Amino acid sequence: MALLEVKNLKVHFKIEEGWVKAVDGITFTIDLGETMGLVGESGCGKTTAAYAITQLLPPNGFIKGGHIFFKEPPRVADLRRKYDESFKSAPTARKKEIARVTSKLSPLRGELRKLQEELAKSPQQKGASGSTSSSPILEKRLVELTAEASELENRLSALTYSYDLLRISIRKDGSLDDYNEKIRKIRWTEISMIFQGAMNAFNPVFKVGDQIIEAITLHKDVSDDEARERARELFEFVGIGPDRIDNYPHEFSGGMKQRAMIALALALNPSFVIADEPTTALDVITQDRILAEIRRLQEQLNMAMMIITHDVSVVAEVSDKIGVMYAGLMMEIGRTTQVFKNTAHPYTAGLLGSFPSIKGKKKRLISIPGFPPDLVEPPSGCPFHPRCQHARKACQEGRPKGVEVEPGHISYCHYAKELWDELRRRE
Ligand SMILES: Nc1ncnc2c1ncn2[C@@H]1O[C@H](COP(=O)(O)OP(=O)(O)OP(=O)(O)O)[C@@H](O)[C@H]1O
Ligand SMILES: [Mg+2]
Repeated sequence: MALLEVKNLKVHFKIEEGWVKAVDGITFTIDLGETMGLVGESGCGKTTAAYAITQLLPPNGFIKGGHIFFKEPPRVADLRRKYDESFKSAPTARKKEIARVTSKLSPLRGELRKLQEELAKSPQQKGASGSTSSSPILEKRLVELTAEASELENRLSALTYSYDLLRISIRKDGSLDDYNEKIRKIRWTEISMIFQGAMNAFNPVFKVGDQIIEAITLHKDVSDDEARERARELFEFVGIGPDRIDNYPHEFSGGMKQRAMIALALALNPSFVIADEPTTALDVITQDRILAEIRRLQEQLNMAMMIITHDVSVVAEVSDKIGVMYAGLMMEIGRTTQVFKNTAHPYTAGLLGSFPSIKGKKKRLISIPGFPPDLVEPPSGCPFHPRCQHARKACQEGRPKGVEVEPGHISYCHYAKELWDELRRRE
């Protein structure tokens, strides 16, 4: 089931010279637990698409068309349907149920905290991976308690969240429906974002840990102590010593700030995370560690992700599917192996050809000639045609429709089928 569905999304920026068509009609879906990589040259609209989904666009950015659907994770949705049915004509009963679940959950949260403290005190052996192992009885209890608490947390979410399906679309009068208001409720709790340039995302005058604790207490009904414990846990999870929560941002290295940003994005157990260039500006070793971290998180938390980057080797490593953008449009989309092995768009071929591969055959790197177009007045037809060696007359005229070259693999090229045959012949 698609958790996120984006249909023909258009986002334009108003500037003095006119409208920048930063995103001009893109379509894709992301399933629960799935990771999509969004790639493309600088300025093609990747960050803008992410800001439209999270409704964090700057004041001159406007959604000009299309739809965004964000569905509730199924486990919470099922529960919520049940509750809605049984409390339809009894709103006070719902309130009572909320009180009942909360009263069961609070001591559990307390017990969990104590157990964690006990575990921390008990003799530990550090494993090679840095993980600790301690008393098996305590650990077993911790697993049981965590399961019980998370079951109750789900129940509480289902009882208190009032959204069924978040939808952003343009009404006839040009206004948006109530997505904007609804998304505010679930931003950070269900959808969260690791920002491009996370290095500067923390406020320099507050301790990093306090900023995470504030994010938690703002959205969840927990005490400061509980939130502090969660922040320590998260630091450990992303590989920073928990004691460093009392550091200020300037006391962190770039890689640590990036990890702390990941911790912040995960603080409320979101079901969908957008990571905008999570590894750019980091050295390759730190980059590798962060990618390993992301892979581990995907496995452990079954989170859906959208990873935005202009580095195709990053998406190759962590994505199930890839969307390739150019000048505000999707050029090609498909499973990672499909897009890499059976490339079906000249732009993707150019983009992949300009990146070195360590594992593959040695080949000459070819960069795409020319520059990305001006998005105030983009080229007619396919915006890539002025730089495309396969371009013909038709490419200057109509905007290409999606062609499904194999199941789940779509190319937005007038000559996708022909190109596909030609590229396969060359192999
Ligand atoms: N607030 C704004 N006002 C006007 N134009 C903007 C604004 N924000 C972005 N743009 C323009 O929109 C286009 C898309 O920008 P966006 O930041 O989405 O690109 P990107 O693909 O994320 O690039 P990068 O890889 O460099 O981060 C660019 O042409 C950019 O100049
Ligand atoms: Mg960007």
